[in-house]
Amino acid sequence: MLNPILAALFLATLASAQADTIAIIGTGNVARALGPEFAAQGHEIVYGSRNPSTNAVRQLVEDTGDAASATTQIKAASQADIVVLAVPGMLVEEITKSLGDLSGKIIIDPTNPLKKTSLGFEHAVTTSNAEIIQKAAPGAYVVKAFNTLNWKTMIDPDESGGPVSIPLVGNSDSAKETVAKLIDGMGLEAIDLGGIENAHWVEGMLILWINNRYGSERESFDFHLRKND
Ligand SMILES: NC(=O)c1ccc[n+]([C@@H]2O[C@H](COP(=O)([O-])OP(=O)(O)OC[C@H]3O[C@@H](n4cnc5c(N)ncnc54)[C@H](OP(=O)(O)O)[C@@H]3O)[C@@H](O)[C@H]2O)c1
Repeated sequence: MLNPILAALFLATLASAQADTIAIIGTGNVARALGPEFAAQGHEIVYGSRNPSTNAVRQLVEDTGDAASATTQIKAASQADIVVLAVPGMLVEEITKSLGDLSGKIIIDPTNPLKKTSLGFEHAVTTSNAEIIQKAAPGAYVVKAFNTLNWKTMIDPDESGGPVSIPLVGNSDSAKETVAKLIDGMGLEAIDLGGIENAHWVEGMLILWINNRYGSERESFDFHLRKND
């Protein structure tokens, strides 16, 4: 029979082997949604903030759990295996370049480059934020994810009344698999929509979503993409 102490040690070693350090750059709505979710899956969370010692950031760290901390954006990124860019969508190039060498790390990009017009929101770049980030950090593995839904649905997918899909695009299959595991652990469904050249269209999905959700008489919805057998 397996010695229970050895079994516990084995399980603890396995859990820590699978735990990643995840830097969440920014401490706004998306950071507050994803940080505690990833911490609940056993990962260590380091928030990267321009002002890491404010009461609001301290409270966020406390709400996230024992293995959470906060520091500057560049220090958070340097410690991490995975970097989440939960930052304003029109600033991704300068923020990515300010984070130091991100080679070998997975970058999760939930951002949307939005421009407000008299007709609603428009996609504000000709390529995509994911491609802009990949160009700014060529040695990193960029995965676009989480940009097509509201932060409230991220933490409570049931509020949508049915399954919610998270489209993933990026050039590394293994990085997409890692991000898909985080998504599964949140009760959402990851779906691989191919390489980073498709990020423009995935960002376009948000334009359709946001213009129906806010400021129009149209019906609001969440995406559910059903896979064929
Ligand atoms: N809100 C949503 O439901 C939602 C859903 C999906 C995707 N998104 C996308 O995700 C991104 C983040 O959205 P959010 O709602 O979390 O935004 P947010 O609440 O405005 O938070 C953005 C965070 O970025 C940091 N930041 C702001 N200006 C900065 C600058 N000049 N340089 C470096 N860091 C800066 C701030 O953190 P510090 O003050 O701590 O530095 C701020 O809290 C956006 O691109 C958005 O389009 C949003």
